[in-house]
Amino acid sequence: MVKVLAVLYKGGKHALEEPRLLGTTENELGLREWLESQGHHYIVIDDKDGSNSVFEKHLVDTEILITTPFHPAYLSKERMAKAKNLKLCVTAGIGSDHINLDAANEYKITVAEVTGSNVVSVAEHVVMTILILIRNFIPAHEQIVAGDWDVAAAARREYDLEGKVVATVGAGRIGTRVLRRLKPFDCKELLYFDYQPMNPEAEKEIGCRRINDLEEMLSLADVVTINCPLHEKTKGLFNKQLISKMKKGAYLVNTARGAICVKEDIAEAMNRGHLSGYGGDVWYPQPAPKDHPWRTMPFNAMTPHVSGTSIDAQKRYAEGTKRIIDRYFKGVEQDDADVIVTGGQYSSAAYGQRSKASVGGTLKM
Ligand code: NAI
Repeated sequence: MVKVLAVLYKGGKHALEEPRLLGTTENELGLREWLESQGHHYIVIDDKDGSNSVFEKHLVDTEILITTPFHPAYLSKERMAKAKNLKLCVTAGIGSDHINLDAANEYKITVAEVTGSNVVSVAEHVVMTILILIRNFIPAHEQIVAGDWDVAAAARREYDLEGKVVATVGAGRIGTRVLRRLKPFDCKELLYFDYQPMNPEAEKEIGCRRINDLEEMLSLADVVTINCPLHEKTKGLFNKQLISKMKKGAYLVNTARGAICVKEDIAEAMNRGHLSGYGGDVWYPQPAPKDHPWRTMPFNAMTPHVSGTSIDAQKRYAEGTKRIIDRYFKGVEQDDADVIVTGGQYSSAAYGQRSKASVGGTLKM
């Protein structure tokens, strides 16, 4: 009998009315029957923060932990030290930065995620957010809801995407898909910065260009989109100093992780007009506090963490979570691309440049 603990977000009436909301505490990733029929013990909770949380209580004897980036249960080294039975952490989705990966290596815990499960969902959200910002959609729509009609007020900040330079920080599965989806918009240039080059055929087909210097790329871009994982080299990367290298009036879209940007520095650049718009769906911490400055700064296109949790994506990451756990039960090796850390070392090459990284996470699709 294996104890499996899942920390998911509450779906309330929405989850009861829509059973395909699989990532909720009510619908339990659709795993209960499958796990219990094999005699395993499945606990699903949402209370995750603080030392008196239900999460801390259950963690002590859990063997498999399922978490999700949408409602991250932060697994610190201290918490891991108490989790004596923990062998496998599965991220239902993509992005395992809420787990202290170095500590997972120290405790020889495997961390796996459902690689590729929601990359299309996020890429679509990025393209939508770029368009929403550059076309000044939100203020124009708000006029209509308020009963107003002022074409000039909306149009004075409205531009075409055609002829602009768009750049991505990170050109893995999501970054590549964003660039590919932008190709028909006839942008002036599509640029990327990544220590792993895109495969040459994809680069040629998309017509994008790799730039080796991040600051140089930012100085050229009208729109910047962040599509790299959060790790020690990207935490707080977009701070006052780096934002100052961006073109005045540029737009920044971040669906990667909130902590890649310094929240006060973003708000300051937006209030000053150095940035014309900021959008995305990721925050730190999550849920975002009511007074988080990104909620109220002008010209923001922020949403809760929804881009990777469309109904279609939930089906894929629920199936992927089951696949990973099934392999664990059967003692079958995990798919390389799903494994972030295992056996005390990084397996993915996407979480920063490391000498021991294998090719597991390098696949560019
Ligand atoms: P991926 O592993 O396919 O690609 C990530 C790329 O970022 C890799 O090519 C890697 O070399 C690059 N990278 C890492 N550090 C970098 C740095 N310092 N500068 C430039 N590039 C760097 O991952 P994928 O699937 O494209 O996802 C990327 C991230 O997007 C995830 O780690 C996660 O944080 C976020 N994400 C957000 C979702 C949402 O719902 N908002 C859903 C899925 C992913």
